[in-house]
Amino acid sequence: MKNIVIFASGEGTNTLRIIAHFEKSDIARVVLVVCNKPDAGVLNVAVSAGVRTILVSKEEFYNTTSLLSVLKESKADLLVLAGFLWLLPAYLLQSFPNKIINIHPALLPKYGGKGMYGLNVHKAVIAAGETESGITVHYVNEIYDEGAILFQAKCSVTKDETPETLSEKIKQLEHFHFQVVIEKLLIKE
Ligand code: GRF
Repeated sequence: MKNIVIFASGEGTNTLRIIAHFEKSDIARVVLVVCNKPDAGVLNVAVSAGVRTILVSKEEFYNTTSLLSVLKESKADLLVLAGFLWLLPAYLLQSFPNKIINIHPALLPKYGGKGMYGLNVHKAVIAAGETESGITVHYVNEIYDEGAILFQAKCSVTKDETPETLSEKIKQLEHFHFQVVIEKLLIKE
């Protein structure tokens, strides 16, 4: 049984699907949710599902390695970023080589980087006149959204698309694919 740790600080809709998917699995389970926002919806999602949560401050995250002890104690095999906007510090990247993945709501390498999150991404895609967008699951390294790509899925961008309608399409893609991509990755290891 592999142990998944989710890093998330948003609403937690992906986290909800991942937790639910692995509740019935004998491959892996979600053992911990790491969050950096005290009022993030994802905390309620995790607590309701009986998953342990930990809130980290910026100071603790970047200037100490206390999180590392928690991750080791949780016997984390894979770190999954699902709406976590802080760049990961070197001590985490070095401790979990090729064991950290992220989901991005666009087709990388386009529309990634600092500031490219939430509706900003969809506004940029529509403003550029793209006819397609999608999701990317990729490994995490020291540069925002630049690690090797593991998986992509596409959707159309219609002429009347708004950032909100595109966001809805992207969420559906994420909710359909992300937990399956995670499972395949864990089986392959
Ligand atoms: C997702 O759209 C994901 O692509 C991005 O952050 C969002 C998290 O959404 N990295 P949620 O909190 O899972 O609803």
